[in-house]
Amino acid sequence: MNTEGRKSGISLFGKPSPSPLLISPTGLNGLLHHRGDIALAKAAASAGIPFCLSTVSNATLEDVSTEAGGRLWMQLYMMNDRNIARDIISRAEKAGYEALIFTTDANVFGRREWDLRNYRQPGKLTARNILDIALHPRWVSDVMIPHGIPLFENVLDYLPAEMRTVKGGVVSLPGMLAPDISWDDLRWIRDMWPRKLILKGVLNVADARQAANIGCDGIILSNHGGRQLDSCVAPIEVLPEISQAVGEQLTILIGSDVLKAIALGADAVMIGRPTLYGLAAGGQAGVEHALALLSEEIDRVLGQLGCHSLQQLNSRMLIKNAP
Ligand SMILES: Cc1cc2nc3c(=O)[nH]c(=O)nc-3n(C[C@H](O)[C@H](O)[C@H](O)COP(=O)(O)O)c2cc1C
Repeated sequence: MNTEGRKSGISLFGKPSPSPLLISPTGLNGLLHHRGDIALAKAAASAGIPFCLSTVSNATLEDVSTEAGGRLWMQLYMMNDRNIARDIISRAEKAGYEALIFTTDANVFGRREWDLRNYRQPGKLTARNILDIALHPRWVSDVMIPHGIPLFENVLDYLPAEMRTVKGGVVSLPGMLAPDISWDDLRWIRDMWPRKLILKGVLNVADARQAANIGCDGIILSNHGGRQLDSCVAPIEVLPEISQAVGEQLTILIGSDVLKAIALGADAVMIGRPTLYGLAAGGQAGVEHALALLSEEIDRVLGQLGCHSLQQLNSRMLIKNAP
């Protein structure tokens, strides 16, 4: 089959996008690279894909909008004080953000054992980690010495005055997350936010249907990258049934395994760690390189499958006798 002139573009919320990729929200990007959120957003803008800023970013949502531009989405963690969400939503609307992602799968943190192993006491690294830092002189000279560990700029004003430090943010933020989020919160957000609304952390058909009933525009099938609850169902396992149930009503987003996910019914794919590795290795250019590698691979696999476009992918390419 002639597979020349392949295209990997999609239409996302009515707008053309040259690739099925989006950059997923991740907190503390400024730790990997000075002004890391802005570098990620600029790389996304230059690739023509959306970038989603985390609530717990190291740059304000206003700075990302002014300095990077592009298709910007805002991620929302619901805090106990609902006024914080109200404020973030109104700031994101004023700053022109296109979509709001409400994350629901990390309001109670997992016991992050890797974190416990990294510190002797809160804020005090182990000798092994201090040695690790010493072995990364470029990071020390680019990030640590000139700028220090970045603050949670985007939510700094919501922290108690004595907690507006790096350690204060790390200690106080997890306790500020609301452990009682409910469908009423989603309805409340829907009433306030006039643009695209996406629910992150959906893993079953009933919740996907409820999101559609409440008026969401999209859902993200996610278990937070397995970083909170490591034994829950894999998003790709539930994708076919969720796509069958609500694929006509909702835009379905998922992480990793780009072409497999699209073949099984996803509309687009959000990536978190791959672009972070690029950010840590080379700033904006590193993120652009990570995106280029993924795009090249998407194009190559399309060709190997004998396809011209993502729209030609189907589940029979992965599952024998799929409907
Ligand atoms: C370092 C790190 C920080 C993250 N921070 C957030 C966050 O602030 N908000 C959020 O909704 N998801 C967050 N996530 C989850 C990602 O958005 C994404 O769902 C997850 O990493 C899976 O994608 P991946 O396998 O491509 O990394 C974070 C993930 C990582 C690795």
